[in-house]
Amino acid sequence: MNEQTIEINLTTNKKEKPNPEQLSFGKVFSDHMFTLNYSEGKGWHDPKIIPYQPISLDPAAMVFHYGQTVFEGLKAYLSEEGKALLFRPTKNVERLNQSNQRLCIPHIDEELVLAGLKKLVEIDKEWIPTAPGTSLYIRPFIIPTEAYLGVAPSQHYQFIIILSPVGSYYKEGINPVKIHVENQYVRAVSGGTGKAKTGGNYAASLKAQEVASTKGFSQVLWLDGVEKKYIEEVGSMNIFFKVNGEVITPALNESILEGVTRNSVIQLLKYWEVPVVEKKIAIEELFEWYSNGLVEEVFGTGTAAVISPVGELSWHGENIVINNGETGPIAKKLYDTLTGIQKGAEPDYFEWTVTVD
Ligand code: COI
Repeated sequence: MNEQTIEINLTTNKKEKPNPEQLSFGKVFSDHMFTLNYSEGKGWHDPKIIPYQPISLDPAAMVFHYGQTVFEGLKAYLSEEGKALLFRPTKNVERLNQSNQRLCIPHIDEELVLAGLKKLVEIDKEWIPTAPGTSLYIRPFIIPTEAYLGVAPSQHYQFIIILSPVGSYYKEGINPVKIHVENQYVRAVSGGTGKAKTGGNYAASLKAQEVASTKGFSQVLWLDGVEKKYIEEVGSMNIFFKVNGEVITPALNESILEGVTRNSVIQLLKYWEVPVVEKKIAIEELFEWYSNGLVEEVFGTGTAAVISPVGELSWHGENIVINNGETGPIAKKLYDTLTGIQKGAEPDYFEWTVTVD
């Protein structure tokens, strides 16, 4: 157990809350933030909750130059009884340290992170929106703060948690999205940083995303970075296919992020005795299954997106429409069950939710 006491300095100037019916994703932030510093010799120190505010950094701070950053995303919900609930927060904190390891960032005390996270959500509990499809998105992240232009791991870091009341991630809400299968650009390669939650992976995805949006697609489906043959992930979500009665998803590898929602969906499907398989899936194979009338549903899974049905996929100019462009029964059941568990309205079979206060 970490013995560090979190210093708390509350705001005297609370902000106005947004209209819960008009929330989009990640544009509004709560009243407070959690901060923790690292310096060589001292380790992680000075945990604090302070009013939400800009941070001041030297222009030579390494965060501005070489991309040595990691982040996480998780959500808090308010139960009917008014309790703040977190969904599987330990999975995110463990993954934060796995990303740290890949990016040469010092291991962070997981109990201290969890304690800071819970305290922050407790303090800003009134920022948890309750309108359907809304939640409080939690964004922990680490930046290197040493002022140094040499390419080396920083000797100083700042860990920060901010909170944002959000609506759905895609403008489509929980309605099906159109996805472009990317053939030119790649997001990650084996041996690279694809498995880590680091800013560079997202920067690498922007160009393809920009081109896809101009053609009317919400997202890009990434293929493997070597042969551009095997399906990997969407970037903001993992991907699942229901084919001939079986649910399949790409097996994890060095260039796929291990999603917490992905893991939860696999467990729920197994619990419901729906056959679920993790394996390498060639894009060509998927289009063949489609021609044989075997593709029943496609959906993405992610913290921000929860479950996002895919209504259309386009690869090399060939468009396929899945389930008549409508949300399929498995995607709907998964969305209802997961959000039900997250809000404490469904039995928590797996003890996934953690009460904050
Ligand atoms: C999440 O689902 O939390 C993500 O990290 C996806 C995205 C908003 C970057």
